Amino acid sequence: MKNILVTGGTGFIGSETAIALLENGYRPILVDNLSNSKEEVVDRIETITGTRPVFYKADCCDLAAFRDVFEKETIDGVIHFAGLKAVGESVSKPIEYYSNNLESTLNLLLLMREFGVKNLVFSSSATVYGVPKRVPLKEEDPVGNATNPYGETKIMIERILEDAQKADPSLNIALLRYFNPIGAHPSGLLGEDPNGIPNNLMPYICQVAVGKRKELHVFGDDYPTRDGTGIRDYIHVFDLAEGHVATLKRLEDKPGLVVYNLGTGKGTSVLELVHAFEEANGIKVPYVIDPRRSGDVAENFADVAKAEKELHWRSRFNVVDACKDAYRFQKKNPNGI
Ligand code: NAD
Ligand code: WQD
Repeated sequence: MKNILVTGGTGFIGSETAIALLENGYRPILVDNLSNSKEEVVDRIETITGTRPVFYKADCCDLAAFRDVFEKETIDGVIHFAGLKAVGESVSKPIEYYSNNLESTLNLLLLMREFGVKNLVFSSSATVYGVPKRVPLKEEDPVGNATNPYGETKIMIERILEDAQKADPSLNIALLRYFNPIGAHPSGLLGEDPNGIPNNLMPYICQVAVGKRKELHVFGDDYPTRDGTGIRDYIHVFDLAEGHVATLKRLEDKPGLVVYNLGTGKGTSVLELVHAFEEANGIKVPYVIDPRRSGDVAENFADVAKAEKELHWRSRFNVVDACKDAYRFQKKNPNGI
């Protein structure tokens, strides 16, 4: 496998993965409709790696435009990042979320069949586990009852991919359930660039740290956790990107359908992340305690034993590293990319 189609390739995780692919001898072919990223990302990948990846501005929901990419390129495997991902927005715009996330995936499956492409890595999420009955979460734990339409799209797509693989056993598909990706490329050139008020904790902390927002709102300090704030498994986006390279290698064994948690295996509370950020960057992050955010769970972290064993991969960076990189990116790009 050499030529890897990367949908959503100019996004936060896609761009970092494009770099990992180039650094490991692959040829990434990026496709993105730029609904949540900028074309400038392609220039930055070139600055970092010295190689300009092929880029198509195309919407995966537009079958004709997407087919054009398959006609022009030889594709050995696909990493499918393209999708809408804002949890809160998915509650107010469910139709857009179901239609974008499902249609893009169905089009991809149609085109993979038409062009005989057999290998697919899908960006799923720990959100498919819903409210966990136990932590750490294992891949065989029950999936279902997501707390929002975004999460439901991931559950539905996992189901669609399972059915497609059952119907065509020559397909090799990896469902990667990411926990909480944070951090940025250490160059400070690429990172998370949300529009408007950040939904996620790390970009919000970064904007407080550069004075763009007054204080962090900590959503609840009355959870049954060690300091009362929510616990998550924060994984550096660089480690996550390398997890995709490891997964492509795993697909070469023709395993059929496989599922992996990509996390660190370690839980960090909101306040622990705030303190790690302060320690990493020598800066205070003012915060206030607000009520719980609806849909949040108390604690969520991964059992990563299966990924470590079968992918020969494990995370290398800790939250302090990720806080340094995220802050560097924020300072270099105060108004985004
Ligand atoms: P992102 O928004 O930065 O990247 C997604 C990219 O897909 C964007 O560049 C966007 O423009 C593009 N896109 C969206 N719809 C498209 C379409 N129809 N056609 C072409 N391009 C389209 O998000 P990210 O954080 O890099 O996430 C990548 C994937 O990982 C998503 O599927 C997301 O659901 C999943 N995921 C993300 C997280 C997270 O916290 N960041 C956690 C778990 C899973
Ligand atoms: C982390 C912790 C919040 C913001 C989401 C999606 C999940 C996956 C990753 C895509 C929680 C607290 C947050 C803030 C806070 N994405 N928090 N103040 O909710 O674990 O996961 O992103 O698949 O599907 O749900 O991530 O970064 O929003 O929150 O106190 O301003 O930080 O309550 O405990 P979450 P997050």
